[in-house]
Amino acid sequence: MSFNLPADSRLARKDFLFGVATASFQIEGAAYEDGRTESIWDRFCATPGKVLGGDNGDVACDHYHRWPQDLDMIRKLGFDAYRFSIAWPRIEPQPGVWNQAGFDFYDRLVDGMLERGIRPVATLYHWDLPQYLGDRGGWVNRDTAYRFADYADQITRVLGDRVESYATLNEPWCAGFLSYRLGIHAPGLKDDRLGFQAAHHLLLGHGLALPAMRANAPKADHGIVLNFTPAYPATDSAEDRAAADYSDEENSHWYLQPLLTGEYPLAVRERHPEWMPTVYPGDMEILARPIDFLGINFYTRAVVKAGEHSDYESIPQDAPKTDIGWEIYPQALTDLMTGFKARYDNLPPIYISENGAADNTPVVDGVVDDQMRVGYYDQHLNAVHNAIEQGVDVRGYFAWSLMDNFEWAEGYSQRFGIVHVDYDSLVRTPKRSSAVFTDWLAQRR
Ligand code: FCB
Repeated sequence: MSFNLPADSRLARKDFLFGVATASFQIEGAAYEDGRTESIWDRFCATPGKVLGGDNGDVACDHYHRWPQDLDMIRKLGFDAYRFSIAWPRIEPQPGVWNQAGFDFYDRLVDGMLERGIRPVATLYHWDLPQYLGDRGGWVNRDTAYRFADYADQITRVLGDRVESYATLNEPWCAGFLSYRLGIHAPGLKDDRLGFQAAHHLLLGHGLALPAMRANAPKADHGIVLNFTPAYPATDSAEDRAAADYSDEENSHWYLQPLLTGEYPLAVRERHPEWMPTVYPGDMEILARPIDFLGINFYTRAVVKAGEHSDYESIPQDAPKTDIGWEIYPQALTDLMTGFKARYDNLPPIYISENGAADNTPVVDGVVDDQMRVGYYDQHLNAVHNAIEQGVDVRGYFAWSLMDNFEWAEGYSQRFGIVHVDYDSLVRTPKRSSAVFTDWLAQRR
């Protein structure tokens, strides 16, 4: 059994990159080993009521100890590349103190990939901010952007061109808005103005980091990973259509437009001057430093109507959903990318850096028959194919995730892996979906 894509699809060519993705906090465990110190996510997990079931990252998938076996698994499944992230508190456990044991871990991990013929794709910040920076305001504090640039310099100096692609940040919308504005992710603040300020400092940190990254890894590609949940109007009314457009300005273009044009979207600046961040002269030029690729993380869409007391309101849909409750709507992935191509004349090459489904099918007689996930991947790979047919330059696709892991505020309750993890024994069991990928990958030309 394989995916149903046209035989002549761009995705069926061996030069279209297929990978699996994970993130440090979600899989590593070994939370306080070899000098790692607390991150804002360790603190958030320890705060009652923040994470489902009081779950934490102390052990997670124990990848810190089991990485050779995990890399063997990636190779066996037949993927070309592995997108992983680096835990800042392993590298810089105290301000300005660089931890050799932290560098050594990622050094071994990257060499381990190269030995197995797996192409390393790194993300420098996937949300595990050192708690000592959290204590000083986290991303609301402008200084954090400069601290990030120092850390990016140090780690890329060590890993250099062995990593072929570096993303500065994963999903600044989540690290900014979800964390400081909506209160769902660490540190759990609920303040519009602080959300916008945190977002600005994240993007500033991204831009500040780029020159040293390029100097340390001149042959690598350097970019960023953004997440998008495009909004569709609940009805055809002019009000609802305007609400959907506005939602996209605030949640999608707020992050993408400054990177490509050096300006934040006017629609948001005009409507909400009271939320606008403090921006220093010269900042926007830093944000707009050229990038080699855009990573897109896509899971679902939103359906919105004009709110009575807000700019837009989400309307729950009576439609197929994954187990986490996110609507399955692959057309939005095609629309999103063709829309970007129409709006930005300097859109860089795109990688789908995350896409996948929570499907909590259990192990039965040693088998995980996750048919819903298989269908989800099939539909979304076709959505990528369709965007390419319409002229979008997509170069690769990463499944989220290699294995079940710590799903942030949802704890271990939601399983996104194509490999099952038993959290008692830590045994890994490849699911049906991973076998479908393996078949697909083997028949490419
Ligand atoms: C994304 C995150 C990733 C994972 C998926 C399900 O927002 O980047 O870490 O949790 O969602």
